[in-house]
Amino acid sequence: MTEKMPAVPVIAIDGPSASGKGTIAQRVAEALGFHYLDSGALYRLVALAALQADLGLDDETALAALAKGLDARFGGTEIMLSGQNVTAEIRSEACGMGASRIAALPRVREALLARQRAFRQVPGLVAEGRDMGTVVFVDATLKVFLTASAEVRAERRYKQLKEKGIDANIRTLLRELRERDQRDSARSVAPLQMAVDARELDSTGLGIDEIVRQVLDWYRQKVAGL
Ligand code: C5P
Repeated sequence: MTEKMPAVPVIAIDGPSASGKGTIAQRVAEALGFHYLDSGALYRLVALAALQADLGLDDETALAALAKGLDARFGGTEIMLSGQNVTAEIRSEACGMGASRIAALPRVREALLARQRAFRQVPGLVAEGRDMGTVVFVDATLKVFLTASAEVRAERRYKQLKEKGIDANIRTLLRELRERDQRDSARSVAPLQMAVDARELDSTGLGIDEIVRQVLDWYRQKVAGL
């Protein structure tokens, strides 16, 4: 029997830092003509806004209020915060680390829920993050958990930074990735974990095209009720 399809389909792609979720999710969204949600960018935006406002990264009440009132706009590949283009700035390790800290605060997560769900619009959405399949879109049509070894992820991040002309040290990157994995997996709210109904995809040794094809195949199988 064909499973009942949710009204607006969602493909949820979760996984650890630098597992390639962003690239894969964007490519899948493009192939299907779906919207795209980079949920990590929202946490990064809250971290950046907090740093700019000199707020402590453990002041849950103030951070939740900040998250709720965040003036964030996503236009194509550009991300704006209070009218300022912060596309590059939120990718810094400082924002990544800050995001990982504030993401452990339940009221900050709660404050961002409605904003994330508002991205679910026809004809469909590809959402990537840590808890897309476990919390934000539990009824997603397809849930993918994308992994890769920490070494491969650190290497990918190293190459990305180098390409942007940013100086990096692979050992430091590996240590920071492991720290972030540890914090994201150990937190009590919405920890990074595979949804019971997710399909795991280990991208170590796979090319982007192969991964995208696999996700699209799984999605088409789901839609066909296979
Ligand atoms: O994916 P990205 O590295 O941009 O996310 C930055 C941080 O935001 C992650 O380390 C994680 O702590 C947090 N995050 C989260 N839940 C999401 C997306 C990101 O907790 N859905």
